[in-house]
Amino acid sequence: MTVFHASLAARRAVTTALAAGATALAAFVAPGIGAAQAQSHAAASPATTVTTLSTASVTPLSDTAALGKLIFNDTALSASGRMSCASCHSAAHAYGPPNGLAAQLGGPDLRTQGTRAVPTLGYVLNRTPVWTHVQAASVFERLTDADSPPAGGFGWDGRFDSLHDQALFPLFSANEMANRDPAEVAAKLSRAPYAARFRQVFGETIFASNDAALRQAMMAVERYELEDPSFHPYTSKFDAFLDGKAELSASEMRGKKLFDDPNSGNCASCHIDQVGANGAHPLFTDFQFEALGVPRNPELRANRDPNYYDQGLCGPVRTDKLSNKSYCGLFKTPTLRNTATRRVFFHNGRFHSLRDALRFYVERDTAPQKWYSKDAHGHVVKFDDLPAAVRDNVDVLDEPLTRKAGGKPAWNARDIDDVIAFLKTLDDGYLPKSQPQPQPGKAFVKVGAPVGRS
Ligand code: HEC
Ligand code: HEC
Repeated sequence: MTVFHASLAARRAVTTALAAGATALAAFVAPGIGAAQAQSHAAASPATTVTTLSTASVTPLSDTAALGKLIFNDTALSASGRMSCASCHSAAHAYGPPNGLAAQLGGPDLRTQGTRAVPTLGYVLNRTPVWTHVQAASVFERLTDADSPPAGGFGWDGRFDSLHDQALFPLFSANEMANRDPAEVAAKLSRAPYAARFRQVFGETIFASNDAALRQAMMAVERYELEDPSFHPYTSKFDAFLDGKAELSASEMRGKKLFDDPNSGNCASCHIDQVGANGAHPLFTDFQFEALGVPRNPELRANRDPNYYDQGLCGPVRTDKLSNKSYCGLFKTPTLRNTATRRVFFHNGRFHSLRDALRFYVERDTAPQKWYSKDAHGHVVKFDDLPAAVRDNVDVLDEPLTRKAGGKPAWNARDIDDVIAFLKTLDDGYLPKSQPQPQPGKAFVKVGAPVGRS
């Protein structure tokens, strides 16, 4: 182990602790404010804790959140008339994509392909810290513990600090809901079946201003995303296990060990699976950014242009960090809750089975020819979805991403089976035998303080 490697491992341990702190802070979300603001708000409310009540009564949604739910599901708010937020973030699929497409088809005729896989909205929305990067003040700091990777913000590249800002993006994105301008959306809202309710909640004159109507609609969507317990039900077998109400099978337990072991999968160093200091159940992400060098995906139409590269933090979708080359290739660590129900993995949707995603982790370096394309001379182009100049940003220091070509992968096929068995325990909807059956659509668990009415 090199000195730098050791310090990097230490760095991750330190920042993981920091991230856990930030996560705990952001866990409290007050009415009407986004996770970003919630962080500072929570700092002023030290008494706030995360409660995990296995039979909590379900607080009804506030009027604003109930309106947000209607907006979230309203296909009339798209240019096609056939696409809502829920088309891509399907409640029946843990608010992830309802299909295995690498990127969804949107636009006015639902034929324009997006450039990224749909992430789940489960668990992360009320716990995502604001985007931050505390840069190392000196090389010495970078080589010791003080440097930390960037973290937080919404989107694969963390470019939105609040859910209401984020929600504007799909409404106007040409390959998603494709509206032209706020006037178009406001007009649709004023004709919606819920327009009268919208006026009741936001005032009789709300439609006098397109911008005000749009802003309130986005605040309502945000409130829905934060308040509705279906976004964070905590009904997985793993939650029951943490509460002492279920036992993991031998295979699941072995998978967890492989997932946790710093010298094996080392997955838990980024996909945190430890209970928080305040008893909060883990989210399987540290919200930090890393470059894993996921292979280029020929299924994405944008990739037909050999000069197009989605480089995450350094653009081109995110535009405020274009010149910071050390950010190129970095994407946000997603939660692994409900990941076994997905049919598309990583920011570019390159893999369509969990097994392939896991094989990629352990064989990326030992058998790169399996994963990457070849150049004109027949040489394997490792990290082929990044321009050559920034391929150095890809993580080769954290296990299991440290091996040499021809070496032994961290896991064999049986190990992968066991880790998959463990990851399946993160799927919601597990019913311990002795527990009462949940009512459909009702969650068992409540996170954060009760949310008041608007
Ligand atoms: C055409 C499919 C599509 C539609 C429609 C859509 N989204 Fe998304 N959503 C995505 C994709 C793809 C991403 C990742 C975007 C990125 O990183 O640039 C995303 C990201 C998000 C995120 C960030 C999640 C995180 O963990 O950072 C939120 C929140 C979100 N969408 C909410 C919404 C809301 C609210 C609507 C409706 C106003 C909506 N989405 C409509 C595809 C869609
Ligand atoms: C150094 C931090 C780090 C480590 C270690 C790590 N991951 Fe990840 N994981 C990430 C990041 C970052 C992404 C998103 C990368 C991208 O899309 O480009 C990701 C994505 C994933 C995804 C895709 C999820 C989705 O919704 O698309 C799975 C599955 C996954 N990781 C499982 C694992 C497993 C299993 C391990 C252990 C072998 C592991 N990860 C180790 C950071 C890490």
